[in-house]
Amino acid sequence: MPAADWTKIEALPAIPLKSLFADDPDRVTRFSADVAGIHFDWSKTHLTAEAVSAFEALAKAQGLAGKREALFAGEEINVTEGRAAEHTAERGEGKADSVARARALHARMRALIDAIEGEALGPIRHILHVGIGGSALGPDLLVDALGREAGRYDVAIVSNVDGVALEEAFARFDPAATLLVIASKTFTTTETMLNAQSVLQWMTEHGVEDIYGRVVALTADPDKALEWGVDETRILPFSESVGGRYSLWSSIGFPAALALGWDCFEELLEGAAEMDRHFRLTALHENAPALAAFADLYYTQVRHAETRATFAYDERLRLLPSYLQQLEMESNGKGVTTDGKPLGRPSAAITWGGVGTDAQHAVFQLLHQGTHLVPVEFVAVIEAGDTLAEDHHRQLLLNAFAQGAALMAGKQVEDPARSYSGDRPSSTILLDDLDARSLGALIAFYEHRVFVNAILLGINPFDQFGVELGKEMAKAAIAGGQSFDASTDDLIKRAFG
Ligand code: F6P
Repeated sequence: MPAADWTKIEALPAIPLKSLFADDPDRVTRFSADVAGIHFDWSKTHLTAEAVSAFEALAKAQGLAGKREALFAGEEINVTEGRAAEHTAERGEGKADSVARARALHARMRALIDAIEGEALGPIRHILHVGIGGSALGPDLLVDALGREAGRYDVAIVSNVDGVALEEAFARFDPAATLLVIASKTFTTTETMLNAQSVLQWMTEHGVEDIYGRVVALTADPDKALEWGVDETRILPFSESVGGRYSLWSSIGFPAALALGWDCFEELLEGAAEMDRHFRLTALHENAPALAAFADLYYTQVRHAETRATFAYDERLRLLPSYLQQLEMESNGKGVTTDGKPLGRPSAAITWGGVGTDAQHAVFQLLHQGTHLVPVEFVAVIEAGDTLAEDHHRQLLLNAFAQGAALMAGKQVEDPARSYSGDRPSSTILLDDLDARSLGALIAFYEHRVFVNAILLGINPFDQFGVELGKEMAKAAIAGGQSFDASTDDLIKRAFG
């Protein structure tokens, strides 16, 4: 395998965006893609045909095609943990026996949903899902984005160990009509286990009988759930090879499937599978996740952009930026390569963002005139989510498009304070409509983009050892009797005497 050659990429000329458009009347077509009802436009980035070829050469040197096949074939590509990364098998795209297992586990999940709908657990109106990180962000995004019209159950996804979060849910919910859903891949996460315990206590205090009869566990370690007291019939396992931040397709998606309906959940999986096939079978110069990753790498590696911002110009997608933060930063925020060598270059950009148009009146000042280079991504939906007069949605979309145009065009006037340098990159992701299918495809697009970024950098995107040290020290602090540094000891003393 030829060595990774970044020199060609690092030597790419910095051509202003305006010149790129002036020199190529087909630029929009050349740097856009349409997949699964989603239009992707990278024409306002500095990607050029030359840059794409240089990245294709790097992809070849880094063995992207083979690693992509290994991902779908269920090989052990998560080398540091000695396991496969089989989120695509959950949507039917993977090794035959893994797909069969995922289908069987989905069938189990569906049977439990049918039983709950049939009131086998008594009348349930409220779903209290406790989980954190990948065991919360995915279901939360799904329910928030697609749940407006569902209205089948009230859902609260509580992640924080701060009791305020649980008390907010308690204030809304009737303990006698609440289903406790404990979502934890490991079934050991301290925040989740404490939250689950407190929900049971709240039910007990309100006279609910047979509290364990109202508990569902979503986990890759069913034995632990059993030990904890969850009835075997209400444990919905998923495979160890499905990573936490890639797990919304598995039983971790249970609250969404229950609240939105099984058909909706299946459409989500189908949309993701369509993106999987596109990613797997399309040449890199037309491949949406690959092109997006090439632009990401151009800005982090060549232009030294330290952050990238995603703005959802759709209230229904307001949780997308936080979902992406975990997906991208927990996957690719690493300092060593897969074989343990120092990375020696920037890893993933710091991912942040917000909701348009709100963000325009808050953080866009820095994007237009600040000294940081921040590639911006706009995510918008053509079909309105509201039923108000058309003006609202029209204004929303046109604001998104105008911001991209302004970032690129800039404006030079005599007064420097009122001038805009322009030539600031943005990309746009435009969904025809926001439904389960397009949302599934969108999330799968982001997963594969993270994968391409990782492979080109030589990173394993599927482990997350960086979170362990903080967990260990928090456990030691909670156990007590341990001395840390003078500052930390002082803070503990101030808080607890
Ligand atoms: O601390 C990070 C992490 O391990 C995430 O990767 C994971 O999504 C989250 O914690 C929750 O873990 P679990 O599902 O095992 O409770």
